[in-house]
Amino acid sequence: MFPNTHFKNAKKYWYMGKLYEWSEAILHPMTHAFHYGTCTFEGIRAYSTARGPAIFRLKEHIDRFFHSAEILRMEVPFTREEVIEACRLVVRENQLESAYIRPLLFYSYGNLGLVPKFSPVELVIGAWEWGAYLGDRAREGVKACIVPKRRIHNSQLDLSAKLGGVYVQSMINGTIARELGYDEAIFLNLEGRVAEGPGENIFVIKDGILHTNDRSESILEGITRTSLLEIAAHLGYKTKVAPIEKEQLLGADEAFFCGTAVEVTPIVRVADLSDNPINVVEFNIGDGRPGPITTRIAEEYTKVVTGQNPVFERWLTYVRD
Ligand SMILES: Cc1ncc(COP(=O)(O)O)c(C=O)c1O
Repeated sequence: MFPNTHFKNAKKYWYMGKLYEWSEAILHPMTHAFHYGTCTFEGIRAYSTARGPAIFRLKEHIDRFFHSAEILRMEVPFTREEVIEACRLVVRENQLESAYIRPLLFYSYGNLGLVPKFSPVELVIGAWEWGAYLGDRAREGVKACIVPKRRIHNSQLDLSAKLGGVYVQSMINGTIARELGYDEAIFLNLEGRVAEGPGENIFVIKDGILHTNDRSESILEGITRTSLLEIAAHLGYKTKVAPIEKEQLLGADEAFFCGTAVEVTPIVRVADLSDNPINVVEFNIGDGRPGPITTRIAEEYTKVVTGQNPVFERWLTYVRD
């Protein structure tokens, strides 16, 4: 009934403690989260290593998952350890060497009043092979546009939680960016400074220093971002966590998106649609090609996630016992 066309090699998913065939689905159309986005999810990757597939920073993802659930006032019907084991199991059961893992906690079927008093919290976990999020060409650099709409502000919603509903804004603006011929959107925050992409954080590089922003700028502080700050320091680069003005991005030597899905993706050109979407001005980042520091960081990130840098092996959870 449900083909896995866009979920490469997905065979089974995990739902409330049991495995189901991918093609089978059993949720009711009146499920609370379908209507109101009352859910939280994680995006996690597993990579092929010399010791079999390993999940990158699984514990941190599950900690964030539980934090998001708390913001949604959810009582999670499983422990962290059970969710960790279920993620490992799903990769194993799908016989995946590398995977994108998607746990989702949602208010399920019960009532449709906005307050889900009678809707139980349920957990589902899927896994499949997902290549480069912005396409195979993305390693050569992407063209982004700063969209006119500002990112939801952290005074309005707790953006330290990865809340399903927030992704409506990501979906609309990511789609608009593509309709206009760009690879991805960039949001400014209400203060007019750089916030983040629809599903990515942003680094800019100037005079050899890597800059990124933090939660005060209305972003989800990504696990990749935090990892890259450590990896960059390990490589001897200076890093700075501070607000990023729009002009800093447009005048950067290098810039990149980062996140579990996009990994490290160079941004080589940015169009500014924030003030005047009619007369769009485009800027090359550096010379319009991925810069040397971005390339070095991307290479090291690949080594880290595939278990080729012993310093960071502590970030890996192997899938097989
Ligand atoms: C809005 C948003 N910002 C940033 C990120 C990057 O977070 P992470 O590195 O934890 O995947 C994501 C992806 O989950 C995201 O959805």
